[in-house]
Amino acid sequence: MFETKYHTKDLSQASFLVSGGAGFIGSNIVEYLLKNGAGKVRVFDNLATGRMSNIDEFQSNRAFEFMEGDLRKLDDCRKACAGIDFVSHQAALGSVPRSINEPWNTNDVNVSGFVNMLSAAKDAGVKNFVYASSSSVYGDEKSLPKVEDKIGKQLSPYAVSKYANELYADVFHKVYGMNILGLRYFNIFGPKQDPNGQYAAVIPLFVSKIMKQEEVFIDGDGEQTRDFTFVENAVQANVRAMLCDHPEAFGQVYNIAVGENFSVNQLYSSIQQLLKSTHVPTYRETRKGDVRNSLADISKAEKLLGYEPKFDFKKGLEITVSYFKALYASG
Ligand SMILES: NC(=O)c1ccc[n+]([C@@H]2O[C@H](COP(=O)([O-])OP(=O)(O)OC[C@H]3O[C@@H](n4cnc5c(N)ncnc54)[C@H](O)[C@@H]3O)[C@@H](O)[C@H]2O)c1
Repeated sequence: MFETKYHTKDLSQASFLVSGGAGFIGSNIVEYLLKNGAGKVRVFDNLATGRMSNIDEFQSNRAFEFMEGDLRKLDDCRKACAGIDFVSHQAALGSVPRSINEPWNTNDVNVSGFVNMLSAAKDAGVKNFVYASSSSVYGDEKSLPKVEDKIGKQLSPYAVSKYANELYADVFHKVYGMNILGLRYFNIFGPKQDPNGQYAAVIPLFVSKIMKQEEVFIDGDGEQTRDFTFVENAVQANVRAMLCDHPEAFGQVYNIAVGENFSVNQLYSSIQQLLKSTHVPTYRETRKGDVRNSLADISKAEKLLGYEPKFDFKKGLEITVSYFKALYASG
């Protein structure tokens, strides 16, 4: 991965903080930055859902630093932001079902923790602060494709927490003049996404269950659609946003997706084909809090960030399935 360069600047004098860098998307951002000679890449993570195995390979790189700490502690956030130029804030508790089961936890980490990070970054004089929002913010808005300024009512505590991030980011931009950019991710998938646990995301879950010949559940009729987005596209967006110096781009949120949607049934059969499997799924009732259809208009990110997704669903899925096959083959 990361054969393409998404920046022109020399990164050797720049310092980066990736919060949640031991997680799926964060560890891929770290990989890109280190591969491209960044001066310093600090990961700030409490390992709640992240894994050291995602970042072990970077430990021998002198530019890499791991700082164990918790977003919910302002002091930890201050230490994490000290001496940093660019922040990519990925740390959060993901998953709609988790937020329905533990709304207080989602709020503490995703909202209070976010305000701690913004405050620490402001006081440390960080140049650009980029954060992960989510397509769940669109809630019950029916129109497709989703355009940034047309959102509905959120359908889960997770979606509310991400919308609260956007409101706080807007205020910190206006009141303190911070250069903040929000990325509304649409179903990101790829290498290093965790296939295990109660709250695993759909693609690694399907791949691992089919490979292990375990029961696979599809929620509802499987005709719900998603703009499935390969992780390298999300990394590209983070790199472009962190290094952005276009004043009009600050204080904004951007859809980060491919701009094509596929149903969960189509996803399932594509994975089946790649794994040469005939494993049959079990259908169960629709999940609470889920949106029915999702498809992004990505023209704003194209125009203001120069974002241009290089990986479509098919190409991304091939890389992802190969990754998990190799992982399981190596035990
Ligand atoms: N994966 C997706 O499809 C998707 C879609 C929309 C938005 N997002 C957002 O993107 C970001 C990254 O998601 P991901 O899929 O890589 O999830 P992930 O769970 O793999 O990564 C999140 C990281 O945050 C860390 N973390 C959690 N609580 C923390 C705390 N209190 N202090 C410090 N670190 C903490 C975790 O240990 C983990 O390493 C999250 O903000 C998520 O909400 C992801």
